[in-house]
This record gives sequence, structure tokens and C-alpha cells, in this order.
Amino acid sequence: QEIYYYDVTDSTNIRAKELAEEGHPSGTLVVADHQESGRGRRGRSWDSPSGTGIFMTLLLKPEMNPNHASMLTLVAAMAVARAISKCADTEALIKWPNDIVIGGKKICGILTEMSAQFDFINHIVIGIGINVHNEHFPEEIAETASSILLQTGKRIRRAELIEQILEQFEHYYAIFMETEDLSGLVKEYNSILVNMNKSVRVLDPKEPFEGKAMGITKKGELIVDTWESRKMVSSGEVSVRG
Ligand code: BTN
Repeated sequence: QEIYYYDVTDSTNIRAKELAEEGHPSGTLVVADHQESGRGRRGRSWDSPSGTGIFMTLLLKPEMNPNHASMLTLVAAMAVARAISKCADTEALIKWPNDIVIGGKKICGILTEMSAQFDFINHIVIGIGINVHNEHFPEEIAETASSILLQTGKRIRRAELIEQILEQFEHYYAIFMETEDLSGLVKEYNSILVNMNKSVRVLDPKEPFEGKAMGITKKGELIVDTWESRKMVSSGEVSVRG
């Protein structure tokens, strides 16, 4: 496996996309200690101060239907949650679709980007940002964000966590690729889903609504029961609060 380490870069997702275009193989990993323009979902930025976090991007070039690729971000979330739980001896859970929380606070986000044409995937980059040793956060996110250190009191070794994430990802990725969907993983995903059986508010579709989260489907949609009907919510289109 090719691993590229940077003390500083703009964004590991950008580096990984460049490496993809230069022909580097599936499985290539980019890690940085600090990002100058870390990117989050929905065009937001991702605070990436030096020495505090893990900023890494995994490059994949899978032979699969591009329409199925968004499920990989849920596979990555499972791997990261399991790895953190193991390394910090804690209960890291998934907030659908792919945030990781400890004690209700977000400690990790994942940004997956794909380049594809028709039915062919050029590359997928899975960017993972983990707050490991942060002791404080900017005011705007202090309510919702935290770090492994703040939530558990533990100072884990970053290299060890990265290694564990790769190991877990390989495991779940192999199961995913057998069917190109989450049928082999739904049960385990639901067992670490923080929203499970809880009330959630689905935001941003034309009509926001409230309901009870009942787990995910094998396509990675969130099943939400409202008082009148069952709805399948697909990631990318909406976010949940809850
Ligand atoms: C989110 O908004 O929750 C997703 C955040 C993803 C951040 C990671 S840090 C490593 C990689 N490089 C980036 O620029 N973003 C992702």
C-alpha cells in the first residue's frame, strides 16, 4: 500500500484526487498533520489544526456501478467507529449517514467524492477527519463538536488508530463488495447507529418532517416512520437532526 504523509497540505482529498489522476493504485492513502483548507460536507470547511487530529484520505478505484458508490461512505463510517471504539476502549456510534459521535458529540466526519463517467468509476476518495487530541473548539461548533480526548480522557496514538481503521475498512469493504450493497452489514451498522429507535428530524428536502428512525436499508437509506407512513431517506439529499 502506498502511503503519502504531509506535515501540511491544503486538503488530503485534493492530494488523493491528484494521485488518482497520476495513476496511483486503489488503496493509496494520504495523511496530513495539518490542512490549510480542509473541506467538510455541504461546502463547509473542516478545522484541521496541527497535532490534534487525523486528516486522511483513502483512494479507491473499485469496479462497480457508480450509483452504488455512495454506500461506501457508510462502510467507512462503520470501520472508523469500530476502530475508535477499540483504540479508545469507548462506545463510538454512527450518526446517519456517516458522522461518528461519542457521548452525543461529533468527533469525526467523512467526505466522499467520486469521479465517474457513465457506468465507469475513475476514482473515489474517502476523506476522514477525526478530532483526536483537541482541547477546545471554535465557538460556532463548540456545542456539537468534541474530540476523543475530551470525551474519554484518553490520549490515543494516532498511528495506531490509522492502522486500525485500515484493518477494519478492509474487512467491511470485502463484505460490501460481495453484493455491492450493505445487505451483509445492515445488522451491524444498525447496532451502532445512534439514531436507532430515536426521533429524528429530516431536514432540507422540500418538506422537512419528523419521525422515528428504524435503521437503514441495504442501500443505505434511513428508514423513518412518521405517524402516517414509512419513508426511505437517501443520504446526500438530506441531513437528520436528532
Ligand atoms: C464533514 O463535514 O463532516 C466531513 C468532514 C471531512 C473532513 C476530512 S479531513 C480529511 C479529508 N480532507 C478534507 O479536506 N476533508 C476530509
